[in-house]
Amino acid sequence: MGVANALAVRQATMKDVDAMLEIVNEYAQQGLMLPRTKLSFLENLQSFIVAHDGDSVVGVAGLHILWEDLAEIRSLAISEKAKGLGVGKHLVLHLVEQCRLLGIKRVLALTYQQVFFEKCGFWVVAKETLPQKAWKDCINCSKLPMCDEIAMIFETA
Ligand SMILES: CC(C)(COP(=O)(O)OP(=O)(O)OC[C@H]1O[C@@H](n2cnc3c(N)ncnc32)[C@H](O)[C@@H]1OP(=O)(O)O)[C@@H](O)C(=O)NCCC(=O)NCCS
Repeated sequence: MGVANALAVRQATMKDVDAMLEIVNEYAQQGLMLPRTKLSFLENLQSFIVAHDGDSVVGVAGLHILWEDLAEIRSLAISEKAKGLGVGKHLVLHLVEQCRLLGIKRVLALTYQQVFFEKCGFWVVAKETLPQKAWKDCINCSKLPMCDEIAMIFETA
């Protein structure tokens, strides 16, 4: 796979959904991220982007707006064969730019990948400093009783 091709990023479409599911749920089975259902991708398709190498989807990421000044990066995953080529950083910076264009000041990631997000310009914040709306979907999460994810923020402005 050529790196330049792999860095092509576009809006996700219906024909990408099965590949997106496969990439995310493989990591979810390893406990590295939350699982996704097909319906959850379909219902939120407009908020997802994919990295592709020709017809092959090699990475996925979504942006979920939480409030007027806060959006969260969700379901970021790069296929095993494309890891370490800069694809993840490219997707994150694409979503950061989307936030800037939308006038959203802060981008949130809840993650185990602290070093990766630091390389993307994020820094760690205490979870208690995040507004309550950042947690509204956590009610459906199996990790809720003792969430061990790290909260990280990027300021767009
Ligand atoms: C974490 C993940 C998204 C990184 O994507 P990637 O395309 O492999 O990362 P990139 O090649 O864009 O790396 C960008 C930088 O981060 C570093 N990096 C990437 N993954 C890293 C890791 N696990 N630990 C430390 N540094 C890491 C790279 O070395 C690179 O550094 P550089 O800019 O100095 O060269 C990818 O490994 C993945 O899908 N992991 C499994 C799912 C997951 O954990 N998703 C995150 C949910 S929030």
